[in-house]
Amino acid sequence: MGGSSPAQTPPYDGPWELARPEDRDPSPGILEINLEARPAEIEYLPGKRTTVWTYNGTVPGPLLEARVGDQLIVHFKNHLPEPTTIHWHGLRLPAEMDGSPATQKPIPPEGSFEYRFPLLDAGLFWFHPHVRGDAQVEKGLYGVILVRGADEPALGEERVLVLDDVLLDEAGKLVEASPPNPAMSHAEGDKGKGPAAPAPEGKAAAMTGMDHSGMPGMSEEAMRRMSGREGNLVLVNGKPRPLVTLKAGERQRWRLVNTANARYFRLSLPGYSLHLVGVDGGLLEAPRPIEELLLARGERAVVVVTATAASKDAALVSLPYERGHGTGGGGPIELLRVRYLGGEATAPPLPETLRTISPLPSPVRTRTLRLSEAEGPDGPIFLINGEAYPKITPLKARLGETEDWEIINESEMDHPFHLHGFFFQVLERGGAAEPYRAWKDTVNIPAKQALRLRVSFQEHAGGWMYHCHILEHGEWGMMGELEVSP
Ligand code: C2O
Ligand code: CU
Repeated sequence: MGGSSPAQTPPYDGPWELARPEDRDPSPGILEINLEARPAEIEYLPGKRTTVWTYNGTVPGPLLEARVGDQLIVHFKNHLPEPTTIHWHGLRLPAEMDGSPATQKPIPPEGSFEYRFPLLDAGLFWFHPHVRGDAQVEKGLYGVILVRGADEPALGEERVLVLDDVLLDEAGKLVEASPPNPAMSHAEGDKGKGPAAPAPEGKAAAMTGMDHSGMPGMSEEAMRRMSGREGNLVLVNGKPRPLVTLKAGERQRWRLVNTANARYFRLSLPGYSLHLVGVDGGLLEAPRPIEELLLARGERAVVVVTATAASKDAALVSLPYERGHGTGGGGPIELLRVRYLGGEATAPPLPETLRTISPLPSPVRTRTLRLSEAEGPDGPIFLINGEAYPKITPLKARLGETEDWEIINESEMDHPFHLHGFFFQVLERGGAAEPYRAWKDTVNIPAKQALRLRVSFQEHAGGWMYHCHILEHGEWGMMGELEVSP
């Protein structure tokens, strides 16, 4: 890339807190907001205007803060030139509020919808469209919800870090999104009005041993679909390399979410002590010391960062990570500058326990889901048990049942697997028992590996989605539906 490459963008020195929406109902226990999806212009590169799609004018959208038990009411208006929905990633909620193609017709341009549901769990969640997710999220449509529990331990000053990347051209414009999968737009547009259009043929020859260098006839477009779209400018809360300061003995709780289309962040912060204290569905049972953290697309993590007398100026970086097909190139990428202010203090010890997470009951059945990739009529497609969405056979379960899902990734790439509406517990990865219990809704399944999870359908009957959260893979087949009947 030339001299004006986004990678050489100077660091951002201003404030980088997320926007807060106005609460229309001041009474406690209710967070009632207006949310508008609309195009806007912002400045990712100094002096260059980028047209983006936003919630309420900012990227990321506003930070919604609430407490467990609060009612969330969102008066949503679509001022985009195409249909959209809002999916509330990770939240347990009634299926008809979930904004997915299983339960909601897309909201047309200038249409509106009221999302209304109670917030049941503490944690960091996020929201994004579930219509042409690959294009709409890349354009800027995402925001986060922070739900606090009643008796959370004090773990230091809190920061929310939304990690994303964007693909910009030299003029600062977002590189045009990939054309939609025709099968998907039919599925979305026809929801409830008849059968879905046929999906690309799912029985194409499996592709093996491919990487970028070994895909001669593959267009840039097809390659982007294969790897997922990675950007050339990495952002924290919409800003390049913003700044945090810590003094000796200071402790901060960083709540992280990966909202990029496809990029994984393998986070490292040399010179500081790091503890993982929470993931998708809230706190772990105990803090876990970590050296680095792999945050797959869609996952969240809560990390306590402690400065010691040995700390120095440093950067939170993302180290190279190979997730298949030659995606691991490129040196460490700087996400956040950390300035060390010195001092003598030492931090008090972290609490030894954070909460209790009970194991789930024994499963009534075990399902096997096989993830694979294949060559479709015009590029790669992605399959679960040999089927490409929307031409799929929904899974069926009953309320109150517990199941084990054995997910076998037969493909050459990692896939971040996401289940809507329910948290699960990972039991085993690559044949090894998971060393600790945690509530997850998104989990990375490395290429050629198997993972076993347990999930209990205790509430919220209805239609739910599960899919790869590399949005291009979801849009091109790697998506399924689960019907939980009462
Ligand atoms: Cu974050 Cu079905 O998605
Ligand atoms: Cu995938």
